[in-house]
Amino acid sequence: MPNSKSSPSHRVPRVAIIIMAAGKGTRHKSKHPKVLHEVGGKPLLAHVVAAATKVVPAPDVFAVIGHEADRVRQAVADTGISFVLQAEQRGTGHALMVARDALAPYDQVIVLSGDAPLITPETIRKLRDFHGAKRPAMTILTAQLQDPTGYGRVIRKGQRSPDVRAIVEEKSATPAQRKIREINSGFYAFDAKLLFEHIDNLSDENPHGEYYLTDMAAILGKAKKRVMAVAASSPDEILGSNTRAEMVEIDQRMRVAKCRQLMVDGVTIFYPQTCVIDCDVEIGADTVVEPFVQILGKTSIGGDCRIRSYSVITNSVISDGVSILPACVLDGAQVMKGATVGPFSRLRPGSEIGENAHVGNFVETKKTRLGKGSKANHLTYLGDAEIGAGVNIGAGTITCNYDGQQKYTTVIEDGAFIGSDSTLVAPVKVGKGAYVGAASCITDDVPPDSLAIARANQIVKEGWVKAKRASRQKSEKPVLG
Ligand code: UD1
Ligand code: CA
Repeated sequence: MPNSKSSPSHRVPRVAIIIMAAGKGTRHKSKHPKVLHEVGGKPLLAHVVAAATKVVPAPDVFAVIGHEADRVRQAVADTGISFVLQAEQRGTGHALMVARDALAPYDQVIVLSGDAPLITPETIRKLRDFHGAKRPAMTILTAQLQDPTGYGRVIRKGQRSPDVRAIVEEKSATPAQRKIREINSGFYAFDAKLLFEHIDNLSDENPHGEYYLTDMAAILGKAKKRVMAVAASSPDEILGSNTRAEMVEIDQRMRVAKCRQLMVDGVTIFYPQTCVIDCDVEIGADTVVEPFVQILGKTSIGGDCRIRSYSVITNSVISDGVSILPACVLDGAQVMKGATVGPFSRLRPGSEIGENAHVGNFVETKKTRLGKGSKANHLTYLGDAEIGAGVNIGAGTITCNYDGQQKYTTVIEDGAFIGSDSTLVAPVKVGKGAYVGAASCITDDVPPDSLAIARANQIVKEGWVKAKRASRQKSEKPVLG
């Protein structure tokens, strides 16, 4: 639905943004749709949608989908944007033809490309405002590139003229036109009425047999309508991902920018070029990130933390003052204030490590709550466990949570002490303040403040070895020599 309904003469222009995302992306050589390939930790298209929805309300943003439409729709459906189906992909001009009915109620149509994710809301606003002020039929966002190979070239009416005669695609360009370094970003603003009055004049007689949206520049010019160019603030913003190499370059630019922003916000990142930090990650001031760390997805890390080398942290929430020691893997975990994790710990989804708790080397947790100040320092598996405060889990403890069919819970209450090398066969409960003797196999509940020992009694056979040694010596033949 259009975003304004007041009378035509005084009202603010109704602006729609359309994102072209129906193509297959042949040059990516992938079985997945191009716009779903990830840079900065999320799909190319998701970046463009995020920028667009900062400029107009989500329902006024339309994505043209076609190749693997359902997957593409699902990837961004939660943003509340609208979709237009281009069942057969016959070019960027054709993508707008199929959107005619959806866009008819608007005054201005801004076109973005689903494979160019560095576009910022500021630049979209600049395009919108330039177009709104000068009111041409079409405004093209352009950039000067050192290497314009692959992009459409912008043919201005004169060297310094703000008006454009045509856009020529690389394949159709003459050698002289290929030398032009001003390129078409693939982002445009159109007067909606004029666009759809003239769009049927597009032809598919070109090297690709496609309807090129870029041909609208010459078509509108011939119809004596004005076509203008406005330069992007930074040429980086318009980079498109047509190949894997271009995609990786975009990813790198995003991550460098992300690290710079975090440093501006007070985070120390040593050797940032070795760290992989996704766009949506949040980190508080005075946290230090060491070399070769990955912080991914929707992870949020508080202030005054230290994230040591070789850790990979995904979709986790880490509070203030936490130490993640080297080589930890966290996924869907929560770590409370002042806790220490690692080195070499693995926190799987549903792990909640309490305030000032310790999880040490070769400890794995899953769907487990470890209470305030509790410790599991060495070689342990804690799965489906509810562990209270001040508990000590000895080295080599295992919660046996799975019988081959179902998962069961182990409960260990406040202040309990689990001796090393114990197995706790769930469902089972160790009461408040209870002790479990080392190497026990606990199959029954242990009442509070009790001691449970569940292992074979030790047998000592005095002198047994000495006797055996003597009998061996007697039977051995003397060695000749
Ligand atoms: C396009 C421009 C080129 C410009 C470049 C900037 C055309 C003909 N050329 O080229 O001048 O310099 O962008 O990056 O427009 N798509 C559809 N439906 C289709 C075809 C494409 O939705 O039928 C989508 C693609 O998924 C993609 C976007 O449109 O997200 C651009 O298409 P692409 O094939 O990448 O165009 P370029 O060759 O990059
Ligand atoms: Ca492209």
